[in-house]
Amino acid sequence: MPRDRVVTAERQEEDRTESHSGGPALRPVQMDEYIGQAELVERLSIALEAVRQRKDSMEHVLLHGPPGLGKTTLAHVIATEMGSRLYTTSGPALSKAGDLIGTLTKMDEGDILFIDEIHRLPAAVEEYIYPAMEDFKVDFTVDSGMHAKVITVGLKPFTLIGATTRAGLLTQPLRSRFGISHHLDYYDEGELLQILSRAADRLAMQDVPPDALGAIASRSRGTPRVALRLLRRVRDFAQVRAHGKVTPVVVKEALLLEGVDGEGLDELDRKYLRTIFETYGGGPVGLEAIAATMGDDASTLEDVVEPYLLQKGFLARTRQGRCLTVRAGEHLGVRVSGDLFE
Ligand SMILES: Nc1ncnc2c1ncn2[C@@H]1O[C@H](COP(=O)(O)OP(=O)(O)OP(=O)(O)O)[C@@H](O)[C@H]1O
Ligand SMILES: [Mg+2]
Repeated sequence: MPRDRVVTAERQEEDRTESHSGGPALRPVQMDEYIGQAELVERLSIALEAVRQRKDSMEHVLLHGPPGLGKTTLAHVIATEMGSRLYTTSGPALSKAGDLIGTLTKMDEGDILFIDEIHRLPAAVEEYIYPAMEDFKVDFTVDSGMHAKVITVGLKPFTLIGATTRAGLLTQPLRSRFGISHHLDYYDEGELLQILSRAADRLAMQDVPPDALGAIASRSRGTPRVALRLLRRVRDFAQVRAHGKVTPVVVKEALLLEGVDGEGLDELDRKYLRTIFETYGGGPVGLEAIAATMGDDASTLEDVVEPYLLQKGFLARTRQGRCLTVRAGEHLGVRVSGDLFE
């Protein structure tokens, strides 16, 4: 099944356009433009201020949490705040230790190495990271057999920023080498509203009333990336169908056309909920059974559909299986018989 969902938190091709095709940059550049995640921002601001005073390099930082919440953005912000260069790579891209060593040895003091999807770092490469993070050095072996010798190369003090959506997959030794480790949470509607009004300004969308932006925020699944994508869809719709005027009704119509309802659920979410209701009487039912009925794959449902439904309180996971909640029944406009979760 194609996964072209307008509400997906995962990055899609169109999300790149904001920085690559000359469009206005919607990404915050400085810490004070970064909205939400207050506790994390405070921890980082203190760390930044302290290293500025000591003229030191910052501790290594691990950012974990669902996609689209601003991990990559934050790595850029930290680099800007430190006035240092940011080298960007990812776990899967670092397939050979040589790639990592090549980058580390060319980095200057205070530079930042950003490793996205750090949980996918190959084990053979990870070994080189430990001494690099801890003692700013790498050991590597040249030649082999009798002539083999280990050469130690010193590195300039740098900061590693790792990002992952699956912190649980990180090995303990790697995890323990980060001085700051923080989980990013979903944004509340007020924060999304601030992000949206700033973006609307940058996109030169004039006079969009706050209640219209609020209607987008409430459909954004707590995720800035989704909010910004929905805003672009609304802008197109308004321009073509509503003389460029964005109102709550225009938002509703524009997003219904995209299959997104008032709670931010799309067709796939509703199909999932309806399957539990229609075929399994509201549950409890096992994930595999739901997946088989829908002709979909269980792990996809678990990773991309269930988290938001659980967060919204539309779904309960019990030992007996998945159950619809009363809220889900109300949202679908159906009456669910039997015992339901409140
Ligand atoms: N706190 C924020 N304030 C304003 N805009 C934000 C914020 N966080 C994220 N954004 C916007 O949301 C978009 C997605 O953020 P980003 O790419 O940093 O997410 P991510 O956590 O790295 O996602 P992934 O796990 O998929 O790599 C960015 O383009 C940025 O403009
Ligand atoms: Mg990212």
